[in-house]
Amino acid sequence: MKVDVLLGLQWGDEGKGKIVDVLTPGYEIVARFQGGPNAGHTLEFEGKKYVLRSVPSGIFQGNNLNIIGNGVVLDPALFKEEIESLEVSGHDLTKRLLVSKKAHLILPTHRLLDACYEATKGDSKIGTTGKGIGPAYTDKISRNGLRAGDIFHNFEEKYNAAKTGHLRILRQYGYDTSPLADIEKEWFAGVAKIKEFTFIDSEYYINNAIKRGLKILAEGAQGTMLDIDFGSYPFVTSSNTISAGACIGLGMAPRLVGEVYGIFKAYCTRVGSGPFPTELQDETGNKLREFGFEFGSVTGRPRRCGWIDLVALRYAIMINGATQLIMMKSDVLDTFDTIRACVGYEINGRKITGFPFEVNGSIKPVYVDMKGWQTDMTKMRKEKEFPAEFNRYISFLEKELETPVKIVSLGPDRAQTIIRQLNS
Ligand code: GDP
Ligand code: IMO
Ligand code: MG
Repeated sequence: MKVDVLLGLQWGDEGKGKIVDVLTPGYEIVARFQGGPNAGHTLEFEGKKYVLRSVPSGIFQGNNLNIIGNGVVLDPALFKEEIESLEVSGHDLTKRLLVSKKAHLILPTHRLLDACYEATKGDSKIGTTGKGIGPAYTDKISRNGLRAGDIFHNFEEKYNAAKTGHLRILRQYGYDTSPLADIEKEWFAGVAKIKEFTFIDSEYYINNAIKRGLKILAEGAQGTMLDIDFGSYPFVTSSNTISAGACIGLGMAPRLVGEVYGIFKAYCTRVGSGPFPTELQDETGNKLREFGFEFGSVTGRPRRCGWIDLVALRYAIMINGATQLIMMKSDVLDTFDTIRACVGYEINGRKITGFPFEVNGSIKPVYVDMKGWQTDMTKMRKEKEFPAEFNRYISFLEKELETPVKIVSLGPDRAQTIIRQLNS
């Protein structure tokens, strides 16, 4: 049995939450492998809407198990908030959500450090979600981090040592630490909440499950272009969001990776700073934002919008070894008369086809224009209802990306999803 991996191919918010939920009935375990509460994964079904941050999106269908893997960074305060809001809506997860002992903790001072580093960067700030992600992963790599399992082993001593170190840095920057006492109060309440859950050696758990023939879906957060190694550095997040990250973040061998589902929007968005070659700062960009309701699920920030970027997508498919593609939010384009796709970049009049090391203002996207389908597709439930122009768009993408589009999503609801049977 192999583990399938599902991840974003763009700059995040591709619709991972929705599709994990759709695919969940086919899996016994869903396991998040990286990121933290910087993620906001939205699911809609039966008239209800949920936004998950640290909890995997496999909790709403069937009785399968969900795992927070070792590659995740967990903020107990936000975890408590998330769990309690799920409890209010009738979802008790204490028996169905397992936490890796090796997942690292985001401490209250990590949040302050995140804000402090952003303030110091001024105009060149990353535009982080402010959840302490960078500082938490920094401590992991510099071997100063606290892990979830530490909660049961001299926790106070370890916590105080880490906090003292962080306060020293914050003082050097002259950063205001007065909010700390309040944040700490919530955080320790979160630590008490987390103790209600079962802590596991997730690498053993997952490998045993694979041996027993259980089907596992590894769920990614963020997107490939935010990957710490391969994204648009330094405007990235602090973890490996790519398929290889699933091996590290769950403790499974590369040979155990099965299907790699790569998700993308029929156009493109990004939140925060950094290069975005196909960004549209015009009426069309505004229309994409308005029709796609492109506002961050975590921070509420307006997302930057633009045309689909096949240069970045080809790169992402290569890095991940994506075996199947899932196209989201094509309904947002339902009224457009022309749809553009960026097939290459031009730098100083020279055509380049790969994603460059340094992306700056001098990049000019090369576009191919296609006729839009101008049909409301949101109520369609069968592939044979698709308009010809839409099928042409998919065929064009499959040819350009050399990978099949197996699922298309025509709206935010679980029901607005079509698994393609026909070969285009
Ligand atoms: P994730 O972080 O990848 O899980 O994606 P987000 O949940 O942050 O952002 C995707 C947004 O698009 C959410 O508001 C979803 O409800 C919504 N969404 C997902 N699929 C579709 C779709 O096919 N059409 C439309 N219009 N909205 C969608
Ligand atoms: P999901 O899982 C979109 C972006 C931030 C910022 C950069 C670094 O919902 O797709 P961080 O807080 O991680 O240090 O911020 O990464 N970012 C996301 N953008 N979707 C996300 O998650 C993101 N998580 C982080 O906006 O540009
Ligand atoms: Mg999101």
